[in-house]
Amino acid sequence: MTTGIPELDALLARLPGIATLAPPALEAEHTAILGRKAGALTALSRSIPTLPPEQRREFGAALNQVKAAFEAAFQARGEALAAAERQRQAGQLDLTMPARHRWTGSEHPVTRTIADICAIFRELGFVIAVGPEVESEWYNFFSLNFPADHPALDLHDTLYLDAPPEPGERGGRLLLRTHTSPVQIRSLLNQPLPIRALMPGMVYRKDPFDPSHAPAFQQIEGLAVDEGISFVDLKAALVHFAQRFFAADTRTRFRPSYFPFTEPSAEMDVECQLCHGSGCGACKGTGWMEILGCGMVHPRVLQNAGVDPERYTGWAFGMGPGRITMNRYGITDIRHLYDGDMRLLRQLAGVP
Ligand code: PHE
Repeated sequence: MTTGIPELDALLARLPGIATLAPPALEAEHTAILGRKAGALTALSRSIPTLPPEQRREFGAALNQVKAAFEAAFQARGEALAAAERQRQAGQLDLTMPARHRWTGSEHPVTRTIADICAIFRELGFVIAVGPEVESEWYNFFSLNFPADHPALDLHDTLYLDAPPEPGERGGRLLLRTHTSPVQIRSLLNQPLPIRALMPGMVYRKDPFDPSHAPAFQQIEGLAVDEGISFVDLKAALVHFAQRFFAADTRTRFRPSYFPFTEPSAEMDVECQLCHGSGCGACKGTGWMEILGCGMVHPRVLQNAGVDPERYTGWAFGMGPGRITMNRYGITDIRHLYDGDMRLLRQLAGVP
């Protein structure tokens, strides 16, 4: 850029140098050229009135151009220096400094137990099935061969809903299911045979909230129905489960029991995981802990679900993952599983 005006062109010769100046020299040059009092361009603009009138216009226009070029050059240099400074500071960040710990959650210990149980039965070919928590009396009791005067149907054992009864032969009063066994019926009615299903879910009972009872808790139901299934299959599968879930040498035992929907029925105990059989507070000195109820599916239950009991047999179980979690971790009060106390969750689930 030239203007043909010697004073301006002499100044313009200093323009390229601006891009090389560092802060103190840059400011001095800015003052020398654009300074309001002693700047060279300021002085030249003051001289305009002394010029012959025919030159003033051309000189003024050229001066403005030169001024704009210098302003742009100073601004560009200022920005380049600021960017370089930012980069220098970023280079000084200590990336090895430990970051602040992020608050993370984890699975609840019972959720983890349920997932572990499901994984083992999946290996055995079981599929996961779920059913509603609000059930009719038929699904929860009658289809499962409970007599109409069974004490479990009493108001002080079962939580009934304040709602009109469900019509139809599978209806009756509405209630919060007291066990996951109604999902056996729903699975048999909805799925083709043979069936191997695992049915986890929440159940409700009118129980006090004390160290060993909760009015709402988790259960996991299991059901296998096919031709030629016997009690041998039940024992083999459940012992395999216990030894996969606990330890390979875990001892188990079956005790005769009674459920309206299985015949014969049994309760399965595993060696207490805390004392390994010698007897402690958690197993009340017995060395055993009960983990599930089980049995061969009652022929009447198969019939109620539209399955021919002459052709098919099956076995079923229901276990409480809450109780299993307590024995797994040595928790002696069931209410700890509901408290959401971070101190307990930190210990059990590795929450930081
Ligand atoms: N439903 C029973 C209970 O809640 C457990 C069970 C399930 C027993 C399946 C036998 C077969 O106690």
